[in-house]
Amino acid sequence: MRKKIVAGNWKMNTLPSQGLTLAEDIVRQSFSDQTELIVAPPHTHLFSVSKAIANSRVKLSAQNLSNENFGAYTGEVSAEMLVELGCSYCIIGHSERRQYHHETDEILLKKTIKAIEVGLTPIFCIGESLEIRENNTYLAYISKQLDQSLLKLSRNQMEKVLIAYEPIWAIGTGKTASPQQAQEIHAYIRQYLSTHFDVQIAENTSILYGGSCNAQNAKELFSQIDIDGGLIGGASLKANDFITIANSF
Ligand code: 13P
Repeated sequence: MRKKIVAGNWKMNTLPSQGLTLAEDIVRQSFSDQTELIVAPPHTHLFSVSKAIANSRVKLSAQNLSNENFGAYTGEVSAEMLVELGCSYCIIGHSERRQYHHETDEILLKKTIKAIEVGLTPIFCIGESLEIRENNTYLAYISKQLDQSLLKLSRNQMEKVLIAYEPIWAIGTGKTASPQQAQEIHAYIRQYLSTHFDVQIAENTSILYGGSCNAQNAKELFSQIDIDGGLIGGASLKANDFITIANSF
C-alpha cells in the first residue's frame, strides 16, 4: 500500500517565531492516522519546529541540502546536519531551485543519493513549464527529467524516493492542474517507473501533486487513482487549511 502524504513547503515564508506558532497550531489539530503529514520550514526554523512537533505524528522535512558532506562550502547545509535536527525528509529539485539556483539534474541526482545515504527520504520534484505544456511536449519533458535523474538510481535507492509532480504553471498562480491533467502525468510517471524499474517500484512509489492545491480542490485531486497526496505551498501556511487538505483523502 502506498502512503498517503501531505507535505507543506513553507518556502521562504514566516519568521522563526511565526513558524513556531504555525507548527504548534498544526500539532494541536487531528488528522487521519492513514496520512503522513510533513512540514518543510526554512532551515532557520528546523530546530524549534523539530521540538514543537517532537511528540506528534507530524514529520520534518528540509527544503534543500548540500550534495557535499562537510567542509568549506559557505552557506550550505549538509544531509547529516538535517538528520541531527530531526528531519526525515528533504525536498530536492523544486522548480524554484532549478530556476533561481541553476540546479542541474546532475547535481540533483547527487543530492538525492546523499539524502538516501543518511536516511532522509527525498521528495523529488519534477514538472513542466507553461511553454512546454502549451507545445504539448510535456510527456517527453517529464521522461527526460526522469531519465537524467531518478532513473540513474539503483532499485534499492529508488525504493526510498517520493516524487512530486509540480507543473510550474500551477505553482503559486492559483491555476491548478485539473484532476484529469494531474492524473494523466501521475499515471505516466508510474508507468515509466514500471518500465524502467519494475511494477513493484511503480506501485509502491508515492507520487504527490503540487501547484495551487488547496482546501477546496484537494479532495478531487486526491480522489484520482495515481495521486497519493500533495506538496502544498501557500495553503500550508494556514494550519486549518493544511489540516483540511490532510483530511481530504
Ligand atoms: P503553491 O501551493 O503555493 O502553488 O506551491 C506549490 C509548491 O511549489 C509546493 O512545493
